[in-house]
Amino acid sequence: MINHKSDIFSIQTIETIQSDDFFNLIEKNRSHLALGFPYTILKCATPESTKDYLKESAKTIADKKGYFFYLRNKKTEALIGLVNIKNINKEIPLCELGYFIDREYQGKGITSMAVDAVLHFCFEELQMNKVFICTDKVNIGSQKVALKNGFLQEGILRNEFKNPKGELNDVVYFGLLRSDYYKNTTVKRNKEK
Ligand SMILES: CC(C)(COP(=O)(O)OP(=O)(O)OC[C@H]1O[C@@H](n2cnc3c(N)ncnc32)[C@H](O)[C@@H]1OP(=O)(O)O)[C@@H](O)C(=O)NCCC(=O)NCCS
Repeated sequence: MINHKSDIFSIQTIETIQSDDFFNLIEKNRSHLALGFPYTILKCATPESTKDYLKESAKTIADKKGYFFYLRNKKTEALIGLVNIKNINKEIPLCELGYFIDREYQGKGITSMAVDAVLHFCFEELQMNKVFICTDKVNIGSQKVALKNGFLQEGILRNEFKNPKGELNDVVYFGLLRSDYYKNTTVKRNKEK
C-alpha cells in the first residue's frame, strides 16, 4: 500500500472520501483546475454528478484500470488534493500520473511528496517499468513536480492537447524508468544516513 509519513497531510483511498467533500474541493478550485483537469471538473459539475464520478472512480480501481489517492490536511481533515494513476499498460508495463492540489496549499512541496509516495506504489506494488507525466507547456509548477521526483523530459508533443478555450497546446512528456527510480532512491537513502 501507500508508504507515506508526514505531519501535514495523509494519503487516503476512496473508501474514506465523502462525495460532498470532493465536490467542495472541485467547486473551490474550478478555474485552478481548468487546464490540468478539464474532464474532472466537467464530471463534478454538481453534488449529484460528483457521486456518479466517484462511483466511476471506484469501478476503475476495482477493475485495476487506475488508482486514486486523496490528500487530506491532518489538522483540519479537509480534502486538499489528489494523485491518480491512469493509462496503465501492463504489457510494457507503464502508467501515467496526474495530480492536483487545492490552490491554497500550492508551493509547500505537498504534491511532490505525494508523488514520491505514489511512485513507490507504482514500482513496488504495480511493478511498473516506467511512469510518465504529461503537462501543458505553460504548466511550470507541474513540470517542477516531475523534475523534483527524478523524471526526465523526453520530448515536447506539438499540438497534442486541446485546452478548455479550444486552443491546441504543446505537451511536455516526462518519463521515469524503474532503473533510474531505484538508483535515485538508493542515492537519497545514502545521503540521509
Ligand atoms: C501543479 C501543481 C500540482 C503543483 O502542486 P504544488 O503542491 O504546488 O507542488 P510543489 O509545491 O510540490 O512543487 C511545485 C514547484 O513549482 C514551483 N512553481 C509553481 N508554480 C510555478 C510557476 N508558475 N512558475 C515557476 N515555478 C512554479 C513551486 O515554487 C515549487 O518549486 P520549489 O519546490 O522549487 O519551490 C498545482 O499547482 C496544481 O494543482 N495545479 C493545477 C492542476 C494541474 O495543473 N495539475 C497538473 C496536471 S499535469
